[in-house]
Amino acid sequence: MPTYIVLLGPPGAGKGTQAKLIAEFTGLAHISSGDLFRENIKNETELGKLAQSFIIKGELVPDDVTIGMIRDRLSRPDCKGGALLDGFPRTTVQADSLAGLLAEFDGKVNYVPYISGSESTLIERLSGRWTCKAQGHIFHEKHNPPQRTGVCDLDGSQLYQREDDKAETVIRRIQVYFTKTAPLITYYRERGLLSEIDGAQPVGKVNADLLSILRQ
Ligand code: AP5
Ligand code: MG
Repeated sequence: MPTYIVLLGPPGAGKGTQAKLIAEFTGLAHISSGDLFRENIKNETELGKLAQSFIIKGELVPDDVTIGMIRDRLSRPDCKGGALLDGFPRTTVQADSLAGLLAEFDGKVNYVPYISGSESTLIERLSGRWTCKAQGHIFHEKHNPPQRTGVCDLDGSQLYQREDDKAETVIRRIQVYFTKTAPLITYYRERGLLSEIDGAQPVGKVNADLLSILRQ
């Protein structure tokens, strides 16, 4: 049976940071809905143009578009053994669709680690984040600075600040998270899948907590 992990948490909680570590450790495909949208924006696809109009305002991309994109991604051969979903689902409609989708692949959601974070922590994390242009590697000017300013340690590409990390957009993203995504905490808790992790801890400690959940 394939293994599917849903990483839940507010913007800036550390989902992407942890997903990269966990994907390396487990060999599971890392599917970040945000990265997929950003790739489409970079390639100027129709999906990218549509997604951009929502992302720059801090709003969610409509469910049907997002679900279609994830369906395509999950159908690729590298997801045969399962996947680590980062940023999807983000609404109960998406969560219900995911359950149906995974059933098509003879799977189900197996784990939902929820990385929590206070609003002040999230704002500080997002305002100091630097992202690699080529592959989305994640740095922070204070907590995880690159060796050379503006250059990715892992692939040498340029680092940039995400357009949706501007202060006013960050505030909107957090509001949207609380109204549309936070209900998934109860959704997955009721299904016996949720495990909460304190995202205010250092990266290594969050990672250790995550791995211990996945070993259960
Ligand atoms: P997305 O790209 O998914 O953004 P997000 O959910 O807002 O989350 P972030 O990527 O900002 O944060 P993260 O939790 O990954 O934190 P990170 O590890 O980078 O989505 C972007 C947009 O796309 C959405 O707003 C929406 O418009 C659209 N979208 C995406 N999915 C969608 C969906 N399913 N439906 C509809 N629309 C969708 O860490 C943040 C910073 O903190 C980094 O600098 C990092 O170095 C640092 N850091 C991480 N962990 C720690 C730690 N433990 N201690 C100290 N620093 C840390
Ligand atoms: Mg992310």
